[in-house]
Amino acid sequence: MKNNQFGKKGWTPDRIANLDGKTYVITGTTSGTGFEAAKLLLSKGANVVMLNRNPKKSTQTIAALKLELGNHIDVLAIKMDLAEQASVKKAAAEVLKTVPQIDALICNAAIAQVPKQTITADGWESQMATNHFGNFTLQALLFPLIDKSNGRIVTVGSMGYNLGIKTIQFDDMNWDKKYSPNGVYSQSKLAQIMCVYELQNRLQKAGKSNVKAYACHPGASNTSLIKTSGSLMTRFIWQLMKLSPLVQSAEKGAYPQLMCATESDLDQSGFYGPTKRMHTVGPVGAHKLEPHAKDKEVAQRLWEISEKETGVTWNI
Ligand SMILES: NC(=O)c1ccc[n+]([C@@H]2O[C@H](COP(=O)([O-])OP(=O)(O)OC[C@H]3O[C@@H](n4cnc5c(N)ncnc54)[C@H](OP(=O)(O)O)[C@@H]3O)[C@@H](O)[C@H]2O)c1
Repeated sequence: MKNNQFGKKGWTPDRIANLDGKTYVITGTTSGTGFEAAKLLLSKGANVVMLNRNPKKSTQTIAALKLELGNHIDVLAIKMDLAEQASVKKAAAEVLKTVPQIDALICNAAIAQVPKQTITADGWESQMATNHFGNFTLQALLFPLIDKSNGRIVTVGSMGYNLGIKTIQFDDMNWDKKYSPNGVYSQSKLAQIMCVYELQNRLQKAGKSNVKAYACHPGASNTSLIKTSGSLMTRFIWQLMKLSPLVQSAEKGAYPQLMCATESDLDQSGFYGPTKRMHTVGPVGAHKLEPHAKDKEVAQRLWEISEKETGVTWNI
């Protein structure tokens, strides 16, 4: 692996200059890396628009942020349940109505390891619905404003992209035949990452937009992810793992998405995250992405199916 372009310590938020006048839209700020990322952006003077599914938790989050950073912070919460297309569409419309610019949309929210196959109102398996289709629609609908702002789209993936099957299971996208909590999580994260590079290809081909798209992951971070949607057993295993040196703080887990949202001239072809101990912890920088995540043929097919399934077309 090449030396880290940001030096031995890797990328850290010290590199973020003043963010006065910048606006970041971020999903899932009620806990974990999303909370930490929102806090850091606000502490640097940015405006933050939080898209969360639970308004009560949003209110508590804003109160916690104000307690820590002061009442002057510019933060707004809009309700959005990524698992429901109707809610994503409503939230996107509200963002377009109320927010004048988007310097970066940070797609951070996700669920993981849902123990039993659950089908959402839109007819999709819940991890695919939330992590892939929800983000696909949100990004497409906010794209015109991100484009107008010459902004970025940041996708928070996972090393899980490489832990399941190494392609998209087009013949059974709801995993009716052999549901696996882990397998479907991996699939949803692979789908998210593939769409980042497919978006780059489409933008490059169209040649008329300055929007940049980035893929990153938080390594293994001490957050609420498994507690929220995992089974008792996975929660127990995760509790034990948290005690090991293979797990870092949620704050450090937020660095890759913060880097992708703010670092100037960052290479879009990279995949960003912690670089040590199998990419679970350590200095943040670019690291290897397995070729199946950039398979153009599969990505194109996934994109077309996703447009058809969601009924949303990207205006690129
Ligand atoms: N933690 C890790 O080790 C790890 C490893 C690899 C990748 N990741 C990725 O890191 C990202 C952040 O996760 P985290 O670890 O910080 O987990 P987390 O603490 O559980 O935070 C997830 C956030 O997403 C929100 N969310 C979940 N479902 C939602 C929905 N349907 N609509 C809107 N918001 C929803 C949660 O809101 P509620 O409070 O309402 O539940 C919460 O704010 C995810 O993309 C995850 O896949 C994490």
